[in-house]
Order: sequence, then C-alpha cells, then structure tokens
Amino acid sequence: MSEIVQISDLHKSFGDLNVLKGIDLTVQSGETVVLLGSSGSGKSTLLRCVNFMEEPTQGSVSLHGELIGTEAGGKMQYRESELCALRTRIGMVFQHFNLFPHMTVEQNVMEGQVTVLKRSKSEAQSKAMTQLERVGLADKASEYPARLSGGQKQRVAIARALAMDPDVMLFDEVTSALDPELVGEVLKTMRQLADEGMTMLVVTHELGFAYHVANRVLFLHDGKILEEGKPQQVLKNPQTQRMREFLDGHSLFKLPD
Ligand SMILES: Nc1ncnc2c1ncn2[C@@H]1O[C@H](COP(=O)(O)OP(=O)(O)OP(=O)(O)O)[C@@H](O)[C@H]1O
Ligand SMILES: [Mg+2]
Repeated sequence: MSEIVQISDLHKSFGDLNVLKGIDLTVQSGETVVLLGSSGSGKSTLLRCVNFMEEPTQGSVSLHGELIGTEAGGKMQYRESELCALRTRIGMVFQHFNLFPHMTVEQNVMEGQVTVLKRSKSEAQSKAMTQLERVGLADKASEYPARLSGGQKQRVAIARALAMDPDVMLFDEVTSALDPELVGEVLKTMRQLADEGMTMLVVTHELGFAYHVANRVLFLHDGKILEEGKPQQVLKNPQTQRMREFLDGHSLFKLPD
C-alpha cells in the first residue's frame, strides 16, 4: 500500500479560534476513511486544508509522498500555481452540488476536464460518459440539472469529480441536504467507489456507511483526533465518554450484532 494523503501536525486557526490543534492522519491507497465529529468540530475545515481551500496555520500536507509547499524559516510557503495543480488531483464533493444549470449533465462533467485539464472535447466527452455510467446516470447525459432529483444531481457531482481522475476523493456531508429517500442511492454509489478501490476521505453522519464501508473511522473532538480505529471497534466499543455521547446522539442507528 502507498500513502496518498499524509497530514502531519496540522493546525488551523481563524483569528483567536483554534479549530484544528495538531492532526496527524495518513490515508493509504484504496482506503476509505470516515471522519466523524459534532457540528463545529472542524471536519469541513480539515477537508478544506487537504485541498488548500484553507491554508493550514501550521503543519504539512503531502500527496503521494510529495510535500505541498516549501518550508522557509519554519513556516510553509505556498505558490498559487502549485495549489491549482494540487487541486486537480483531489476530487471534492460537497453538500450542495453546484452544477451549472445552463449546461447538460454531460457538459457539466466535461467542463473541468476541458478548462482545467485541457482535454479535447471528444476525450472529455468519452470520459464523462464513462463516469456517468459508473454512477448509473448515462441515460441522463443530455438532461439539464433542473430535471434531476437531488440524489441524481449529487451523483452527477460525483461523476464530475471522478472525471478529473483524482488521486483521492473528499466527501463533505454529501447526503445531508437530501430527502431521506434519496440518501441511499448516493451512499450506494460511494460504497461502489470504495469497493472499486478509490481512495476516499469521507465526512458523514451516516453511521451505517461508516460501519459497513469504512476501513477506518476517526472521531474529531476539540481540534484533535480523539478516537481512531476499525469501525467495529470505534462505533461499538468507544473508549471515551465524548465518543459515547456522540453515538448516543445518533441512537436511531442500530448497529448489527
Ligand atoms: N472561514 C472561516 N472563518 C472563521 N471561522 C470559521 C471559518 N470556517 C470555519 N470556521 C469555524 O471553525 C469551526 C469549525 O467549522 P467546520 O465548518 O470545520 O465544522 P464542521 O465540523 O464541519 O461542522 P458541521 O458538522 O456543522 O459541518 C466553527 O466554529 C466555525 O465557525
Ligand atoms: Mg462541515
């Protein structure tokens, strides 16, 4: 196994607010890591630091063993050109899908490939169709987003990220804005990606997904990773009171025996 993402002693503050206080996390090739934590614990901030939508205050991120940025005088310096290149290698899917409403599904999945990766239209189109097939939406290629369900829109957003051939996919609560009956189809798509060996770092409140799909579960609390381990261990046998309280708040979920 090779290390895809390596986060070392990562800190992130917003003014006086210290959100992340020293995160160490390695995601191996083909691994699905689920990040849990209460609202405001810094889960989104951590994902945003991995693709440098937020610049870490301290610490480092490496992708495929390459350190992002250069160290100068004990502080990391980042060049915008380097960060742009990095972002093309990291697929990110958010709660809100942000598809272009005036473009068809296929054009949405082609857009980044053509503008950012400079692929030809025919190559981008063929890759778009491959990824739409992968998420089960090839038949919607010429549809406009307004005519899709929320679950279908989110699967298009996933196809759009996959079409960039990312090294790792980051998912930030991608099912939390969906009607309950649409959540399953998106989780199924994510499970399929995990089974196919995609490397994924997933923030979700879907403990069933964490239990059945994750190779590893992390619990973020007070700026640090408080618990970490296999899903069966962390979700069924939590070691800390905080983790137990968090799980109690999700009591609707019944873990299999
Ligand atoms: N750009 C920003 N400027 C100032 N404060 C911020 C910024 N982004 C996040 N924060 C603060 O950092 C803390 C962590 O926010 P973050 O969005 O990472 O939490 P989260 O775990 O993703 O929460 P949720 O489960 O509600 O999505 C919060 O207190 C938030 O208000
Ligand atoms: Mg968040």
